[in-house]
Amino acid sequence: MKQYDLTKNNIIQFKPERVALDAKHVNVFYGEKQSTFDVSMQFPKNRIIAFIGASGSGKSTFLRCLNRMNDDVATVDGQINYEGLNINSSAINVYELRKQIGMVFQQPNPFAKSIKDNLTFALKKHGIKDNKQIDQVVKSSLKKAALYEEVQDSLNKSAMSLSGGQAQRLCIARAITMNPDILLLDEPTSALDPISTKKIEATIKELSEKYTIIMVTHNMQQASRISDYTAFFHMGHLIEYDKTSKIFTNPSEEATEDYITGHFG
Ligand SMILES: Nc1ncnc2c1ncn2[C@@H]1O[C@H](COP(=O)(O)OP(=O)(O)OP(=O)(O)O)[C@@H](O)[C@H]1O
Ligand SMILES: [Mg+2]
Repeated sequence: MKQYDLTKNNIIQFKPERVALDAKHVNVFYGEKQSTFDVSMQFPKNRIIAFIGASGSGKSTFLRCLNRMNDDVATVDGQINYEGLNINSSAINVYELRKQIGMVFQQPNPFAKSIKDNLTFALKKHGIKDNKQIDQVVKSSLKKAALYEEVQDSLNKSAMSLSGGQAQRLCIARAITMNPDILLLDEPTSALDPISTKKIEATIKELSEKYTIIMVTHNMQQASRISDYTAFFHMGHLIEYDKTSKIFTNPSEEATEDYITGHFG
């Protein structure tokens, strides 16, 4: 494989008031093996930030640091600042943190319960009992996830009866019932057909008005269609992070250019 300069990079900075999440010098180790190397990057509020890079470049590993999903599998050092707190500190209540920073995975994973129960699960766990309030959250989450029209008459049907694209939108709806600030999406459309993908992309775009969205995608068209900023990862290093239009038309780094033009490695 071609050797690229891993030290040089062009990392965009934002005004402090625009920053939703600020990662500083993050290193991740799976046992002895280091998979993320000194990654520092800021995530601007109400924008869509895409992570791109080859398989194994560390996109998911770094994404999972952002809501402590690596706790049981890896050692993470460095700071990840959210609302004045370092979420990487042991004092953080991870359960509460994940209400603010939600996650949706590659494979839709609805619970084997009704559509409605998928959405009320977290609310009930947090002691919300008012039926009117619950119904209101169910409706608004489904609307935000662009699924309401399709399921409004079958809320008591099993979520397992949904199509892949509908199930993924249900998982997005489920992630927003607790009204998070930030949504992490790891290849949310890779298991879906083009029509469902388009619907999810439209949903993500709309959600960015309310939330900060950080998503991993292998689909470059998708990154260029919907994200505002793009981060390119290579071998666990953040090589370049800039406006999506810049990354896809005039990247600063050779590795980025080779990757987006398909001449990688
Ligand atoms: N649970 C784990 N235990 C050990 N090593 C892991 C684990 N998860 C990931 N890795 C290693 O960390 C590196 C980065 O993996 P990661 O899954 O973050 O890459 P990725 O960019 O998300 O790849 P893909 O595009 O295939 O999803 C790889 O070398 C991978 O083998
Ligand atoms: Mg991955």
